Amino acid sequence: MSIRRPLIAGNWKMNGLKAEARILAEALASRVNAIGSTPFDLLVCPPFPVLSTVVGAVAGTGIGVGGQDCHAKVSGAHTGDVSAAMLVDQGCQFVILGHSERRADHHESDDVVQAKVAAALAAGLVAVVCVGETEAQRDAGETLAVVSSQLAGSLPSGADPRQLVIAYEPVWAIGTGRTPTIEDVAQVHAAIRWDLSRLLGAEAAAGVRVLYGGSVKPDNAQALMALDDVDGALVGGASLKADDFWAIAMACPAP
Ligand code: PGA
Repeated sequence: MSIRRPLIAGNWKMNGLKAEARILAEALASRVNAIGSTPFDLLVCPPFPVLSTVVGAVAGTGIGVGGQDCHAKVSGAHTGDVSAAMLVDQGCQFVILGHSERRADHHESDDVVQAKVAAALAAGLVAVVCVGETEAQRDAGETLAVVSSQLAGSLPSGADPRQLVIAYEPVWAIGTGRTPTIEDVAQVHAAIRWDLSRLLGAEAAAGVRVLYGGSVKPDNAQALMALDDVDGALVGGASLKADDFWAIAMACPAP
């Protein structure tokens, strides 16, 4: 069993108007309130416009709130972008960075992700840094090499490990209902842990949570969360249903 406290993170992506966001956040808040303290950390990452609605709905529950991206600069002429300080100002403690949808849709390279991570850490946020291979890379046997180089390229040197969470998300598993085998997930997570000790030092790396993401559902969560090197999940589709998201969190092994 992992020594790290599990983190179950919901990536709402571009879903949810104010009313829906409030209902979903309140549903999670009431579940947390009903059991008092949870053996896992919960995080929700809604779209920017509903951040303050969600921050208000989960206030006092311990549920974390995060953005889904931030700009590398503190402020300036960057139309449509949001800075890390703005996320903090809205009540966020986290930000997802380097998600494969941003790497693909917005051509974000490792260098861009690294600069964003540095900005997030400087603003006091915890960065959930995403890495993962495409199906073609997996078929070519390049999974470990791709993940390792994304990790090395996306983490700024001297990053404070207490402000880092890594999410391993095979691109081909996102939103498809397909997942790697349990053995494959275990192998990649062990490799990530090894890379983290090389990059951050063994002691610091031991505290960094490494989440699995990509079609996590209530029915596969238990097997995934039982793995030693899996410290939680980054959940997309299933995080939009309070029952499913909660069931995934409850599938974490008891401490
Ligand atoms: P999914 O998305 O759970 O819908 O596969 C995961 C993610 O993209 O973070």
